[in-house]
Amino acid sequence: MLLSLISILALLATPLRVTACEDECPVGITNALVANYQRPVKCVTEKIGQKIINKLGLVAQDSTTLSPDSLLAPMMKAYRNTSYTDLNTNIFPGFFHGKCQVDGVDPVGCPNPDCPVVCGTPGSIVHFFSTFSQIGYNTTSDSLMSCVSPHSASYSALEKSVAAHLPKSEMGPGPQILRFRRSLVFANDEPSVSSIANRENFVSVLRSILEQIPMALEDCCGGLDRPLCLWERALKTLILSYP
Ligand SMILES: *[C@@H]1O[C@H](CO)[C@@H](O)[C@H](O)[C@H]1NC(C)=O
Ligand SMILES: *[C@@H]1O[C@H](CO)[C@@H](O)[C@H](O)[C@H]1NC(C)=O
Repeated sequence: MLLSLISILALLATPLRVTACEDECPVGITNALVANYQRPVKCVTEKIGQKIINKLGLVAQDSTTLSPDSLLAPMMKAYRNTSYTDLNTNIFPGFFHGKCQVDGVDPVGCPNPDCPVVCGTPGSIVHFFSTFSQIGYNTTSDSLMSCVSPHSASYSALEKSVAAHLPKSEMGPGPQILRFRRSLVFANDEPSVSSIANRENFVSVLRSILEQIPMALEDCCGGLDRPLCLWERALKTLILSYP
């Protein structure tokens, strides 16, 4: 008796559920964003990693390789672990949720294809595409920053790796020559390392470069309006492919 009542209620609820972005819809949309952001995120690691290497004059040690990718591997490992969950959480329960009906009536365009009410349907995501895309962008930037936050395990691993590649002052050219060469090659806006032999100093230089990650992401997305990180037509087509 109770069971059949429950199944009747479940049946009644079904028509409402079908029109919401549920099950494969949020999974598919989140996976598409994660995949789309691979290129700009790779571009960020190239820029930031290279800047760390240049600014601190890092050198390969023994048989280890030194590249932006290898240096930022701890950050990328943490990012890969967290990006899907962060995007999914911020987009769906975070913003696109709830009912579309107003006073029990579907407004024009709701639930699909272009629903001017913030709710959990493909039509709503299409209508508020610029918000959707901002959430994706902000979340990606925040996820990257959380992977280099000073208290994270991934930051500790990165700091350790940087420390292991600091030039040893007793090797190679003396500090005078190095300082001269560095000022020629790397004269730019960062606080300068007055002496690369000063190993205390590298942490603040490292952190000041990591704080430029949001700026690097903006560059990698083509500037202020991030034209390279919209993927508007492909994403709208994907979003509306869900019922
Ligand atoms: C991966 O993420 C989960 C939570 O989302 C966390 O508990 C776990 O420690 C993370 N693993 C790594 C290697 O960062
Ligand atoms: C994204 O971040 C910018 C800058 O912090 C903020 O102005 C904007 O409101 C955010 N957008 C969303 C949808 O959270």
